[in-house]
Amino acid sequence: MKRLDEFPMSIRLIKEIHAILMEGVRGNDKTPGEFKKSQNWIGPAGSTPSTASFIPPPPKEAMDAMGALELYLHKNTEVPLLVSCALVHYQFETIHPFLDGNGRLDRLLITFYLYWKKALQHPTLYLSYYFKMHRQEYYDRLNLVRDKGDYEQWVIFFLKGVIWTCESALQTIKKALQLQEDHKKRLIKEKLSTPYAVALLGYLIEKPHLSIKDAASHLNISYQSAKTLTHQLVNLEILKETTGKRRDKRYSYWEYLDLLSEGT
Ligand SMILES: Nc1ncnc2c1ncn2[C@@H]1O[C@H](COP(=O)(O)OP(=O)(O)OP(=O)(O)O)[C@@H](O)[C@H]1O
Ligand SMILES: [Mg+2]
Repeated sequence: MKRLDEFPMSIRLIKEIHAILMEGVRGNDKTPGEFKKSQNWIGPAGSTPSTASFIPPPPKEAMDAMGALELYLHKNTEVPLLVSCALVHYQFETIHPFLDGNGRLDRLLITFYLYWKKALQHPTLYLSYYFKMHRQEYYDRLNLVRDKGDYEQWVIFFLKGVIWTCESALQTIKKALQLQEDHKKRLIKEKLSTPYAVALLGYLIEKPHLSIKDAASHLNISYQSAKTLTHQLVNLEILKETTGKRRDKRYSYWEYLDLLSEGT
């Protein structure tokens, strides 16, 4: 996102994102940050070209198709933004330009595209969970466009996903605010509701994994005071120590993290 200040939305940028995305995860041995140089295919694990459900274009054609997609990204069209987004997602999936990580990159691209187009101010819309819940339908809808040109049903499926994801993000935000309220009440009840404690609570929304040092520097208080404060939050079960170590302890705002990781 920061990179967009200095660099255009482009194939180059998509490759950079891919290289970072694939660091140290499944598929990191499959030329991260570079387009395929050999033929790939789409299908269940263990499938072969002859049993694949779809064979994307070969490397040379894939490059050309990505060039065309890049032009489309910058084109002024009458097509509503979310519909364009659905088309871009479909097209990228179908070109399958990387050897691996196309699914992950392409799901991220939805959020990134909408941010780039200034429809999102923050990367708050992430459709992964929707696709995961409807995986078979997701695959079938993509294949129906490829086989039968059925764009409409794909776009409808995608837009329903946007609605569902917005609604569930809103619910999550409401729950997070409620959680903060409950925790403030807990502090008041235990007569621990000092300005520092309240400030730390607020900071946990931004930084749900925290060390005592982090707390001290954010609140601009001594290490000892931050330690006391952190321990109070641990006693109230607002924070949990996660390392089990004697030194370099780290604390998590666990109920909030549970909220955020629903469905992952
Ligand atoms: N049977 C299928 N029919 C249609 N599309 C499929 C099928 N299997 C996989 N795909 C598509 O291919 C993508 C997987 O491609 P790839 O392995 O390059 O990416 P990934 O990031 O490793 O995958 P994943 O989406 O599983 O995290 C899926 O996200 C899906 O969009
Ligand atoms: Mg894969």
